[in-house]
Amino acid sequence: MRIENHPILDLDRDEEKEITFTYKGKEIKAYEGETIAAALYAAGIRVLKASSKYERPRGLFCAIGNCSSCHMVVDGIPNVKTCITKVKEGMVVEEEVGKGDIVD
Ligand code: FES
Repeated sequence: MRIENHPILDLDRDEEKEITFTYKGKEIKAYEGETIAAALYAAGIRVLKASSKYERPRGLFCAIGNCSSCHMVVDGIPNVKTCITKVKEGMVVEEEVGKGDIVD
């Protein structure tokens, strides 16, 4: 699900450039300017990481960069807040397990 109409924001998907990035080896389409988490959410992906203590699934929570629920490994860098990080063409995004260990 992706927001197509908004009462305040002027969203014109025809004007935005479509890009692709990789999540767990799968190509995901996104629009330039979207955050990684928004693009994953639009692709139906709700689990972004596993909690550090019990490895329970975590997804978007605050969506403003104040928690750690959306931490993922992006281009090999752990603990990236994907709710405030814009997606880029060719990015490689992986689920994070634990306290930021890189998943092979
Ligand atoms: S969802 Fe809270 S920092 Fe991203």
